[in-house]
Amino acid sequence: METRQRSVEDVYKRRSHKIKVEDVEKPFQIPIQDKNTKWKMQLLKLILVIILLAVFVTVLYSPTVCHPEHVSDSLARWMWGGSDPRYVSHEEVNWNEILDALDGMPNKTKIQGVGLLNFDNTENEMWKQVLPNSKHIHLHLDHAEENVTWNTIYPEWIDEEQDDEVPSCPTLPKLEVPRKRLDLVIVKLPCRNEANWSRDVARLHLQLAAAGLAANAKGYHQVQLLFVTKCFPLPNLFSCKELVVRKGNAWLYKPNLNVLREKLLLPVGSCELSLPLKPRDEDYSLNVKREAYATILHSADDYVCGAIAAAQSIRMAGSTRDLVILVDETISEYHISGLELAGWKVRTIKRIRNPKAEKDAYNEWNYSKFRLWQLTDYDKIIFIDADLLVLKNIDFLFGMPEISATGNNGTLFNSGVMVLEPSNCTFELLMDHINEFESYNGGDQGYLNEVFTWWHRIPKHINFLKHFWIGDEEETKQKKTRLFGAEPPILYVIHYLGRKPWLCFRDYDCNWNWDLLQEFASDVAHARWWKVHDAMPEQLQQFCLLQSRQKAQLEWHRMQAEKGNYTDGHWKIKVHDPRLKKCIDNLCSWKGMLKHWGETNWTDNKFFTPSPPALKKASLSAL
Ligand SMILES: *[C@@H]1O[C@H](CO)[C@@H](O)[C@H](O)[C@H]1NC(C)=O
Ligand SMILES: *[C@@H]1O[C@H](CO)[C@@H](O)[C@H](O)[C@H]1NC(C)=O
Ligand SMILES: *[C@@H]1O[C@H](CO)[C@@H](O)[C@H](O)[C@H]1NC(C)=O
Ligand SMILES: *[C@@H]1O[C@H](CO)[C@@H](O)[C@H](O)[C@H]1NC(C)=O
Ligand SMILES: *[C@@H]1O[C@H](CO)[C@@H](O)[C@H](O)[C@H]1NC(C)=O
Ligand SMILES: *[C@@H]1O[C@H](CO)[C@@H](O)[C@H](O)[C@H]1NC(C)=O
Ligand SMILES: *[C@@H]1O[C@H](CO)[C@@H](O)[C@H](O)[C@H]1NC(C)=O
Ligand SMILES: *[C@@H]1O[C@H](CO)[C@@H](O)[C@H](O)[C@H]1NC(C)=O
Repeated sequence: METRQRSVEDVYKRRSHKIKVEDVEKPFQIPIQDKNTKWKMQLLKLILVIILLAVFVTVLYSPTVCHPEHVSDSLARWMWGGSDPRYVSHEEVNWNEILDALDGMPNKTKIQGVGLLNFDNTENEMWKQVLPNSKHIHLHLDHAEENVTWNTIYPEWIDEEQDDEVPSCPTLPKLEVPRKRLDLVIVKLPCRNEANWSRDVARLHLQLAAAGLAANAKGYHQVQLLFVTKCFPLPNLFSCKELVVRKGNAWLYKPNLNVLREKLLLPVGSCELSLPLKPRDEDYSLNVKREAYATILHSADDYVCGAIAAAQSIRMAGSTRDLVILVDETISEYHISGLELAGWKVRTIKRIRNPKAEKDAYNEWNYSKFRLWQLTDYDKIIFIDADLLVLKNIDFLFGMPEISATGNNGTLFNSGVMVLEPSNCTFELLMDHINEFESYNGGDQGYLNEVFTWWHRIPKHINFLKHFWIGDEEETKQKKTRLFGAEPPILYVIHYLGRKPWLCFRDYDCNWNWDLLQEFASDVAHARWWKVHDAMPEQLQQFCLLQSRQKAQLEWHRMQAEKGNYTDGHWKIKVHDPRLKKCIDNLCSWKGMLKHWGETNWTDNKFFTPSPPALKKASLSAL
């Protein structure tokens, strides 16, 4: 196991080194053009044009042509060199919008050099009229290889430990940096495929290339970017904070080029692990006071104990950052007092409804998570779900940009642990499209994956799911179990999927008792959670006590497992959990409830009298 531990950290170190080296070479890397090849290229282009003209004439007079207009259109594109349909945008440019947007530009008259990317000849001519006093440079971008798809850039799985191969991203051609100074780069972005427009290689490539050009600005003078597109540019490459003006399809940005330079050092997609932007072992933080861990509780207080244990685990792992918890009005004062005692700074929020969810559905209020972006007194947030434990310090993630997360399935990230950058305008962006984007699972994860398609992969040990895939081989299962139990810990974070440990008896993982949940059962991971629980002060442990209905329900499911003669045999284990003997409501005779199970709807809160009542916030010297 030791070797494995080293390997993940090794990968990080090695990549760290590589980045440092690249970093040094980067900013002023202005390719020196070889005059010779340039001449050859020109000659080639001339020959090509002649051939194309010949083709054009032939095609024009051949009987199959019915739309000469269309032909001349595509011919124009060929001559310009942009024949790749992936890059072409047929969107009509609205020049009034453009003029309005440029009017919003503070130093419009000072624009000396303008770079134009992905416009056709007619449009390039128009630009000359729109910006008559500037030098116009027609930028040429080589297209990505045909076989580079979104799925190659965002593969479901990569060999993080580099057991068999070193994962590597395809290279996307960069723009040649012109010798002339550019003040404004204007790019036309395609927005195709309706529902899937944001997972588009050409669209990503054009944006990265434009960003790279801006970041390469000689002398670090300010370069602005103007995108012409009906869909919003990558929100975490071009932040809405840097949006100077938007008029319809014209988006003018004044990016912070230092930040842009750092982001461009990231892999193009999740095809490689991303590294903290600043080298390890150094201080990542500009201001630790503006960095926090955050989680959210909405609609039910079942997770209060989980959030308390999560806070305990963060402190045990050695982090001193702020802990912020968002709660809605369904969380009682009693529970809030416990959260505060555990170290959480509690913020009360209004829930956000998913307009596409059914009423009272389990995921109706999951969009409340968007409120994390309103925590604008912090620059960086590490969001963690309330049902996980931090085993090793993950403060280094504060050096990662929005959105850094582990992979989920397909091209998607898992929103259980993610780095984000609060910003009111990003919050508004999320709210603005709430009726438009459909979340594949009705949860926030599906939605956030539609908005932040350009996300950065962090090692899966940072959000390690307690889950055994049906297809896992026995050896893989054992390996996972060893990881759950390793002491000192190897995993950074265990994410407790399925039935939560505090809602089981401590004697064994009660996921064994549900046929459908057995894939989430691990006694070793379960025991690990209880170790953290036992390290908590007693005052906090009382928030993890079970209500009578919960005890009855656990016993009822154990009986079902017994009836089903489940082969794992956990149902035979005699329960010694001391919580079984502690009653915190007015019912207490849970065995009696069991006799009438299913006949009555037991509601907890009616019978629940917290004992002792809400706590006063006290110093937590014990933690
Ligand atoms: C406009 O020009 C002034 C003076 O030349 C400069 O201080 C300012 O930063 C410029 N603004 C922008 C947005 O480039
Ligand atoms: C795409 O094709 C090129 C050869 O044309 C090959 O070198 C490259 O590995 C391929 N890339 C992918 C992602 O398959
Ligand atoms: C969207 O794009 C992704 C990545 O290319 C692909 O896997 C997925 O099937 C597409 N979805 C739709 C609805 O087209
Ligand atoms: C994987 O992601 C797709 C969305 O791209 C979703 O439709 C599907 O249900 C997911 N599968 C699982 C097992 O989560
Ligand atoms: C963000 O909005 C909230 C109100 O919703 C406001 O209190 C806060 O100051 C805003 N933050 C910034 C940085 O403007
Ligand atoms: C929605 O939130 C609830 C409560 O936090 C959680 O149990 C559930 O898994 C979430 N659902 C989705 C689809 O994210
Ligand atoms: C339960 O399973 C065991 C072995 O798996 C078997 O020996 C026993 O007869 C079964 N009991 C019942 C009641 O089916
Ligand atoms: C329990 O609740 C369901 C729906 O909430 C209701 O249909 C049913 O009649 C209730 N059962 C009892 C015994 O109150």
